[in-house]
Amino acid sequence: MGKLAITGGKPLRKTPFTRWPIPTKSESAALKDVLESTLWGGQPFPGKHAAAFAAKFARVHTAKYGQCVNTGTVAIQAALKAIGIKPGDEVVVPAYTWEGTVGPVLLVNAVPVFVDVDPDTYCLDARLIEKAITPKTKAILPVHLGMRFADMDEILRVASKHKLKVVEDCAHAHGGMWKGKGAGSMGDMGAFSFQSSKLITSGEGGAVITNNLEYMELVESYINAGRASLTDKYKKRIIGFNYRLGEFQAAVLGAQLARMPKQSAIREKNMRQFEARMTKTPGIGLLKPDPRITRLAPYGYVMKYFAEKVSDIPRAAFVAAMQLEGVHCDGLFYEPVYKSSLFPVDATDFPALSWGREKALDLRSMYSCPESEKAAYQEAVWFPHQHFLGTTKDVYDIADAIHKVLENVEELRGLDHKAIRNQRLGRADRES
Ligand SMILES: Cc1ncc(COP(=O)(O)O)c(C=O)c1O
Repeated sequence: MGKLAITGGKPLRKTPFTRWPIPTKSESAALKDVLESTLWGGQPFPGKHAAAFAAKFARVHTAKYGQCVNTGTVAIQAALKAIGIKPGDEVVVPAYTWEGTVGPVLLVNAVPVFVDVDPDTYCLDARLIEKAITPKTKAILPVHLGMRFADMDEILRVASKHKLKVVEDCAHAHGGMWKGKGAGSMGDMGAFSFQSSKLITSGEGGAVITNNLEYMELVESYINAGRASLTDKYKKRIIGFNYRLGEFQAAVLGAQLARMPKQSAIREKNMRQFEARMTKTPGIGLLKPDPRITRLAPYGYVMKYFAEKVSDIPRAAFVAAMQLEGVHCDGLFYEPVYKSSLFPVDATDFPALSWGREKALDLRSMYSCPESEKAAYQEAVWFPHQHFLGTTKDVYDIADAIHKVLENVEELRGLDHKAIRNQRLGRADRES
């Protein structure tokens, strides 16, 4: 029996961390309001709660217009349609992200072009974009991943030089600010998700924000079965679908948005305390701070694990040991999308991958993005944001669990950590 919980010792922490999402009386009251109104969604569009939430959400992110949609994936898809992405166009995307960033590009029959991430942020490396631009490139789709922003200064400079549009994937960045500007308000459009793990959530849901009324009108047409938008100033219609958000979900979002600033402040304070306890921990790297991020929006706390500084004990063993100490974290949280089993792209389903080519593009074999692969398969460790929503003691426990595992890391050598973790936690994720 060792000191670590994974080798039979006592877990460092037995009490659960903050649960997410947090239901309160505000959500209950908002849901009751919708229930009794009998206006549950559909038409009239948008409903009272969806309209109020979208307007406030856009304001909070320093954008003029907002619209709710039913998922974050649809938010990206609607944004791509609104900015005029056509079949065969190329869209630059980061390789290291959730597959849902890239799926919408294929869904509009455009071609995703993977670019590596910056090791300081794990976001799209803006310095590499120009090399990926071809005459077919029409847009850049950066993701503000984890707890950092993609370098919007450089992305906007490259976009303006090459006349490209920018859609910000802000699925992780609710409330975040870059030099005082809200996430999603700097490019042509911003797309958000409200799926259950996100910083505000209605279980499922999404939103698009923009400063461009014409784009917003196109979004409205696209998500409301092709109908005219509310303002209809530009008199444009596109073939649309029903991608509306129901009023129950919009009402829950309204309640969550009201609490977001307080929760963001708690997370930020706790992350600072955690980092103060973690500096100079051998084997662990913290992401470089960026003073241009003027309000942090951490979807997850992300740090680096350097196996080579920890006697070559693989990250998967470290993660398994942490979980059994009572601290949830994930190593293989995302994969480079082109390598992911959740991305079995088949060119016959997406004809633009073959157009004008003797052989269809094989997105799964044509890329190698070393920083994305290093993050995915070796270094990145993700903690859920709600672990940082409680007390200082909570985050000290996380730091202490890391130190405990690292101090006793030799106990992990040769262990079948995957079998142990899966047996105890009854779960299997992507980590091998
Ligand atoms: C980075 C990123 N982009 C896009 C999405 C898609 O959002 P949704 O799951 O709401 O469709 C997600 C969410 O899961 C995400 O994390």
